[in-house]
Amino acid sequence: MIKVAIIGAGAISSAHIEGYLQFKERCRIVALCDLYPEKAEAKREQYGLDAKVVKDYKELLGDGIDLVSVCMPPFVHAPVTIDFLNAGSHVIVEKPMAASLEECDAMIAAAERSGKVLSVIAQNRFRNPVMKLKSVLDSGLAGNILHAQVDSFWWRGHCYYDLWWRGTWEKEGGGPTLNHAVHHMDAMLWMLGQPSEIQAIMSNVAHDNAEVEDLSIAMLRYPNGSLGQITSSVVHHGEEQQFIFQGQNARISAPWKVTASVSRPNGFPERNEELEEQIQDLYNKLPDLPYEGHTAQIDNVLGALETGTPVLIDGASGRSTLELIMSIYKSASTGIKVQLPLQPDDPFYTQEGVKANVPYFYQKGESVENFSDQSITTGSFADKK
Ligand SMILES: NC(=O)c1ccc[n+]([C@@H]2O[C@H](COP(=O)([O-])OP(=O)(O)OC[C@H]3O[C@@H](n4cnc5c(N)ncnc54)[C@H](O)[C@@H]3O)[C@@H](O)[C@H]2O)c1
Repeated sequence: MIKVAIIGAGAISSAHIEGYLQFKERCRIVALCDLYPEKAEAKREQYGLDAKVVKDYKELLGDGIDLVSVCMPPFVHAPVTIDFLNAGSHVIVEKPMAASLEECDAMIAAAERSGKVLSVIAQNRFRNPVMKLKSVLDSGLAGNILHAQVDSFWWRGHCYYDLWWRGTWEKEGGGPTLNHAVHHMDAMLWMLGQPSEIQAIMSNVAHDNAEVEDLSIAMLRYPNGSLGQITSSVVHHGEEQQFIFQGQNARISAPWKVTASVSRPNGFPERNEELEEQIQDLYNKLPDLPYEGHTAQIDNVLGALETGTPVLIDGASGRSTLELIMSIYKSASTGIKVQLPLQPDDPFYTQEGVKANVPYFYQKGESVENFSDQSITTGSFADKK
């Protein structure tokens, strides 16, 4: 029986708790921790957990905890993860992996030293439309991808940035490029690999209570010459998130749609219905995932602990997503075209360097300790097939 602790009992902790509770025969939540112990107590009662509640996570180090879920704000992900790895626990850390590449490298080194598993949450990879798109892409039927369009469209009201740790470069580490598009970038990197060049711009158009951006647009070039674009936003009504890949032979996307063109003798397009049917057929035959979202990723990690297989989303994966994000911030802050990989002497490798080089759009205004409404949504793929 794998003994689990939840560190940080805020909004996202429910997704972790509900995930673990799906696998009662494999794991048990034995501890909950929060700076505000009453929040941990409330989760304990809500879910009827036989778990102890602590205020300081250090009380749990070396306490025989096998696996922790770090569900705290980004600026504490690295120290807490490293402390638990050093104490001999496996760690699932919420996205973004950390606020800097320097911290990611320290987390990966701690996992290697301790021999413990480190998995970074990117639960939207475990969604039917995303998993199936990846399978179709891997089939090669669409051909080489020439253009990728990633719309990380979210909408958050002005007061979203009133929460004490949000909206600052210090504690949240960035705006939607970091905290929201992290999901889409993780999936895009999984499918297409890392681009070699980035040019980006960013702005804050609707949240004058936040230092960070609320909108960014990045253009990507891949080593083979293909291009891509990522829009990261919290100002898009309807949150119509999508990935559209234009292959040599066909266009495929999540939410799912396939179209294929072939050339008429004069170069103008006509539909390639045969290929469309072939790709659609493949898609239709792909099985649904047994679990989606956080539950699926928790299942993946429990499986890794039980059988020694690697986790799907490890520290290296979380780090490469952060590297892409930091490249976007670097380009958008300096106006220069950024080449990847970012080197350790790059100012955007450390959080101090990031803080010294990014624009501060507005001063953080209100600071709310806790919202009474803890219900959140985690992406528009959640309700799509
Ligand atoms: N995967 C997703 O879809 C998703 C969605 C929302 C948030 N998140 C991520 O989850 C993390 C937490 O976000 P949230 O929305 O749950 O925030 P939240 O503020 O609701 O919860 C964080 C909790 O951590 C506690 N905390 C902070 N510092 C602490 C410390 N030193 N010791 C103990 N407890 C401490 C806070 O009191 C709070 O209860 C962030 O990294 C965020 O980006 C992920």
